[in-house]
Amino acid sequence: MKNIGFCITGSFCTFEKLIPEIKKIVELGYNVVPIFSYSVQDTDTRFYLAKDFYNDIKEVTGNEPVLTIPGAEPIGPKKSMDLIIIAPCTGNTLAKLANAITDTPVLMAAKAHLRNNRPVLVALSTNDGLSANAKNIGELMNRKNIFFVPFSQDNHVAKINSLVAHFDLMIEAMEGAFEGRQIQPVIRGK
Ligand SMILES: Cc1cc2nc3c(=O)[nH]c(=O)nc-3n(C[C@H](O)[C@H](O)[C@H](O)COP(=O)(O)O)c2cc1C
Repeated sequence: MKNIGFCITGSFCTFEKLIPEIKKIVELGYNVVPIFSYSVQDTDTRFYLAKDFYNDIKEVTGNEPVLTIPGAEPIGPKKSMDLIIIAPCTGNTLAKLANAITDTPVLMAAKAHLRNNRPVLVALSTNDGLSANAKNIGELMNRKNIFFVPFSQDNHVAKINSLVAHFDLMIEAMEGAFEGRQIQPVIRGK
């Protein structure tokens, strides 16, 4: 059975549509180990209460979420994951990943896993994808072992710089990443 480290960061508005996609991955027979950024652990929002989200993810995956940097670090030496998915990936986490900053459990998981020359799949959800973070997307697109779930501008009128991944393409992108392949087109229409 393949193991997926499923990293979740603080784009809270995507959480509801994320859960059915995680369910599908579990139903395909993968062992999904959730890994939460600190903001996901700590923040109650109008979209979800942190405690409810923790319980729902634990129930869907059947695994206790990883909540600490020491908890994520063994992914490196133990080579315990076949794939790391960061979904949703905030602008904050994206920028840190692009710049080698490792100060959350999610970033520790990605760093530890990349050490093993294994794939990381990123599903963006950020309002600054075409502004402050555009350069970081470009940086990561050119980085070995990083793949993207195809994304679009989600609201080019009200949020001109916003980019969001197509979460319904996550499984296809995941299968590509296992083969070292970026599925295309990576930029989609709406
Ligand atoms: C209600 C709410 C919604 C948010 N939605 C997003 C989002 O969709 N994308 C994003 O990049 N940041 C979003 N943020 C900001 C991040 O949560 C914030 O930058 C946080 O520091 C991210 O930390 P993390 O990347 O470690 O999870 C949101 C914050 C709040 C309170």
